[in-house]
Amino acid sequence: MKAIIIFISLLHAGILACEGANPCCSQPCQNRGICTSIGTDSYECDCTRTGYYGENCTTPELFTWIRTKLKPTPNTVHYILTHFKGFWNILNNIPFLRDTIMRYVLTSRSHLIDSPPTYNSDYGYKSWEAYSNLSYYTRTLPPVPEDCPTPMGVAGKKALPDVKLVVEKVLLRRKFIPDPQGTSLMFAFFAQHFTHQFFKSDMKRGPAFTRAQNHGVDLGHIYGENLERQHKLRLFKDGKLKYQVIDGEVYPPTVKDVQVDMHYPPHIPEEHRFAVGHEAFGLVPGLMMYATIWLREHNRVCDVLKQEHPDWDDERLFQTTRLILIGETIKIVIEDYVQHLSGYHFKLKFDPELLFNQRFQYQNRISSEFNTLYHWHPLMPDNFHIQDQVYSYPQFLFNNSLVMEHGIHNLVESFTKQIAGRVAGGRNVPPAVMMVVMKSIEHSRQMRYQSLNQYRKRFMMKPYTSFQELTGETEMAAELEELYGDIDAMELYPGLLVEKPRPNAIFGETMVEMGAPYSLKGLMGNPICSPEYWKPSTFGGKVGFDIVNTASLQTLVCHNVKGPCPVASFHVPDVKDAGSATINSSTSHSRQTDLNPTVILKERTSEL
Ligand code: HEM
Ligand SMILES: *[C@@H]1O[C@H](CO)[C@@H](O)[C@H](O)[C@H]1NC(C)=O
Ligand SMILES: *[C@@H]1O[C@H](CO)[C@@H](O)[C@H](O)[C@H]1NC(C)=O
Ligand SMILES: *[C@@H]1O[C@H](CO)[C@@H](O)[C@H](O)[C@H]1NC(C)=O
Ligand SMILES: *[C@@H]1O[C@H](CO)[C@@H](O)[C@H](O)[C@H]1NC(C)=O
Repeated sequence: MKAIIIFISLLHAGILACEGANPCCSQPCQNRGICTSIGTDSYECDCTRTGYYGENCTTPELFTWIRTKLKPTPNTVHYILTHFKGFWNILNNIPFLRDTIMRYVLTSRSHLIDSPPTYNSDYGYKSWEAYSNLSYYTRTLPPVPEDCPTPMGVAGKKALPDVKLVVEKVLLRRKFIPDPQGTSLMFAFFAQHFTHQFFKSDMKRGPAFTRAQNHGVDLGHIYGENLERQHKLRLFKDGKLKYQVIDGEVYPPTVKDVQVDMHYPPHIPEEHRFAVGHEAFGLVPGLMMYATIWLREHNRVCDVLKQEHPDWDDERLFQTTRLILIGETIKIVIEDYVQHLSGYHFKLKFDPELLFNQRFQYQNRISSEFNTLYHWHPLMPDNFHIQDQVYSYPQFLFNNSLVMEHGIHNLVESFTKQIAGRVAGGRNVPPAVMMVVMKSIEHSRQMRYQSLNQYRKRFMMKPYTSFQELTGETEMAAELEELYGDIDAMELYPGLLVEKPRPNAIFGETMVEMGAPYSLKGLMGNPICSPEYWKPSTFGGKVGFDIVNTASLQTLVCHNVKGPCPVASFHVPDVKDAGSATINSSTSHSRQTDLNPTVILKERTSEL
């Protein structure tokens, strides 16, 4: 009897899966039209305000048609911005034109981000819960419906390829590939440090959730993610943060001193357990270097403000300093960090006033896809060169003793000199962080991400028609073809890492065209960029406002290291952008062999 019931229900399920697959699985609605299934065999596309109409939102309205005919492709725009140096040098010095172009960059990018946010990994339709529950990352594209024939909807095989196989075949590093843009480790650690304030997955709940509920640049990685932690880190005198002095230099306090939770493996001695805003920053000395620099900067700015406002209490000095540091961060990220990444000859500008006459929402929600695409682990080298020492991963990770022994000055100098790995182009993930990359793919599957090509369409790019077109070569393309079967089933994250890089660039087209909108929206959507905040009084007057408006990576370092200050740059100094031939000599590292990745990562799996 029981067997018959099971048999019948199996049969039933089988029938449902065959004839009744959700018609939205094939993503029939184009141009950002929204698919709603009607019963089990029909669907409706909502083309409202897409600029298109018709059953599948494929027929352009007149204006849309004209615009698509006139609009240059992203690769053309990129080419223009990264060539014609003489032309840009002139243009950069004509304020009106520079402002106009910067305004266009900001609006054209940020208009691609839905604001207010829409979906999350549990809600593929608009809902109050998805809007209001800040514990979730948002989603730019809704998850693939559960009842689809394949994991990517209808394209590809019934099951995605084994994650380990994907990683080993096309992602894992064979030989270190230096970034032709000359990116330094100083950049790589800045990226990691900066982004971990808003990428803070709450693995107790799952990859769809975040602990960083301000969804943006709040400096929670310096001040702690909640008030309790912030209070433990504060000195409650002159607005300052707690610190300790070692050999005449300021460092973060120890865990024992301040009693905040930090993730260190058991063998780390008490005096090396520094405590900072983000509980995982003990992991990498590069993170602790930046944490120390920002701690010093906070206390320095407090002194400056106190000089201006001797009457201000601790609380006001602290709060105002925090706003100044947020401003400095955004300034550095746009004018040094994004400037470097972009490779543009056009000089980017942090100026919130550019948006005051535009339609722009001062709010932001971090999306899962942004987190996924920011897993730039190929940046990491095979080992770390500091002064005349070479550290392997086991020697480097969790080693704050190294931070004190070398000192911030030497770390900055060494990290500026060492080149980072290229992110796109495939086969450049160091074995030491292979597990992280595997996790990233597993989480994407768990959250039912749509395909790489769906994301390309969402961000106004043409879908790839073949694996060769994706990688720009044939060998990895053939491997991928075998693994995935269909280019429309190619996953987002592996796709980003194997994508053909732009000429002499660190990334391919998709990483930039997706990443830039999230990034600029997150930076300019900050409340300090809004008209009521963006004025000197918010920052304690002219002195504070000037600190924000003159901030750069170099001055940040110079203000906070002892003695003559070292060159601090996101670009390795003696490397030209001429391509890999000029870089190889300075970067031949020996391969990392003695390393067991699981040992390193066991300490902190799912902690970040
Ligand atoms: C030696 C260097 C590094 C190590 C050992 C490392 C290790 C890790 C680990 C163990 C995780 C958590 C993985 C998980 O359980 O899901 C993680 C997450 C992440 N890493 Fe790295 N990483 C390194 C460098 C970097 C760099 C340079 C970046 C550049 C941006 C980066 C970006 C990220 C991001 C965005 C996440 C996701 C964070 C989250 O969702 O909470 N990592 N990394
Ligand atoms: C809309 O898409 C569906 C499914 O892809 C297709 O069968 C149909 O012909 C399309 N309709 C139009 C008007 O193109
Ligand atoms: C957000 O959603 C999660 C998962 O459903 C739930 O556990 C949590 O309580 C929600 N948070 C709030 C503030 O409602
Ligand atoms: C940490 O770095 C120091 C140099 O400051 C080095 O002597 C030590 O061996 C490193 N620790 C480990 C566990 O490798
Ligand atoms: C490495 O650089 C040297 C000159 O510095 C050049 O002759 C050589 O061809 C380069 N090798 C590769 C593999 O690019």
